[in-house]
Amino acid sequence: MGSGSEKAGRIGGIPVDRIVALKAREAETYARARPKAANALSGGIDGFYGGVPMHWMNDWPTPFPLLVEKARGASITDVDGNMLADFCLGDTGSMFGHSPAPVARAIRRQAGRGLTYMLPDEDAIAVGRLLKKTFGLPFWQIATTATDANRFALRVARAVTGRPKILVFNGCYHGSVDETMVRIVDGRPANRPGLAGEFRDLTAGTKVIEFNDLAALEAALAGGDVACVIAEPVLTNSCMVLADPGYHDGLRRLTRAAGTLLLIDETHTISTGLGGYTRRHGLGPDLFVLGKPVAGGVPASVWGMSEDVAARFRAYEKEKTPGYSGMGTTLSANPLQFAAMRATLEEVMTEANYAHMERLAARLVDGLSAAIAKNGLPWHAVRVGARVEFICAPGPLRTGGEAEGAHAPALEAAIHVALVNRGVLIAPFHNMMLVSPATTVRQVDRLVAAFAAICAELAG
Ligand SMILES: Cc1ncc(COP(=O)(O)O)c(C=O)c1O
Repeated sequence: MGSGSEKAGRIGGIPVDRIVALKAREAETYARARPKAANALSGGIDGFYGGVPMHWMNDWPTPFPLLVEKARGASITDVDGNMLADFCLGDTGSMFGHSPAPVARAIRRQAGRGLTYMLPDEDAIAVGRLLKKTFGLPFWQIATTATDANRFALRVARAVTGRPKILVFNGCYHGSVDETMVRIVDGRPANRPGLAGEFRDLTAGTKVIEFNDLAALEAALAGGDVACVIAEPVLTNSCMVLADPGYHDGLRRLTRAAGTLLLIDETHTISTGLGGYTRRHGLGPDLFVLGKPVAGGVPASVWGMSEDVAARFRAYEKEKTPGYSGMGTTLSANPLQFAAMRATLEEVMTEANYAHMERLAARLVDGLSAAIAKNGLPWHAVRVGARVEFICAPGPLRTGGEAEGAHAPALEAAIHVALVNRGVLIAPFHNMMLVSPATTVRQVDRLVAAFAAICAELAG
């Protein structure tokens, strides 16, 4: 992927040779500070294909991954004794901090009571009540990943509407849900480039348009064949794209008018505040998905339905051919998930914690913006609640296409490693930073100072 701001030997306004030199220097510093990890990981971990237990672990721009000893609150410590302020937080799974005390307590308690039995317990009863209260929708199901929750919710959407297609936004990511893997490539819908083992033409069942384009939405829904629009309220899986003022009103109005359901995937935008972007902005979705941090880091996800969708699905189930629905997985809704989810919903996802996250995230985005401005860089910083990004291109971005153009992998990688060497870990993808309830002002200031120093060095 090229950078939209790539001009004659420059990426994001920075001469390429300066970026290459920074990356090389920082890679050496990184390796020197981690002899144990270098020894254990440089050749890959024996027994794992590709040398890592999950191939995304090779996506970190560091010469080899951190070998973690422990993570607590908003800090992560590697086996070589380096402690970092963690703003990646497991790419959102630990958005509320590593091992929040109430969750750790609940897990300890549940550990002696059985870990999975395919039956409800009293925590399940509490979680049902908490999901209704926190997110507003009346009917819920539990899955184990956001990927699965989206997959099941999309099945319901197709079942109740009797329509075959879904609509996604260019640049979206909703987990490894096959039917969402469609992009606009050279102006036309196409399978997302790079998909392994995908021989189907996914565009047959999926329409794709740009975010923030209501005219394109209206045209795409006009055929009456779209069961569901699946949307993040803010695109967070490319460089961050905020919704234009009024865009969500338009999205809701046009989907309703077309008889198309609206699935809001809050897996990342739960950073916005209690109840997510949906509650803060009154989105009124038909279907709602939340994964990653909903159980404080224990694998779990939830998907909710409106009264109307639930009634229609009940009617559909009465009529459908008896047999396996294609929904559900064996370990989902297990008591460990319920213990952790109850603790998260009752004691961790609180107004007070969100207020702290919001305050520090505002401080962070202001600090990053000031560093960008001071160094005259053609970049910008953006935020949705506790989720912050710096983007090495001018902003604001309005579409997934623009976001892809703004992506500057080589420059982002150099900055990432330089930040690690200055004691701060950010996400390996698109410069994402999360502020947790455990994050301190000192950690934020450390990140801002490190970023400012790197900006100054890059700006020369
Ligand atoms: C918005 C969104 N939905 C769903 C997912 C999938 O989550 P998981 O990998 O836990 O299934 C992601 C992952 O990044 C995501 O960003």
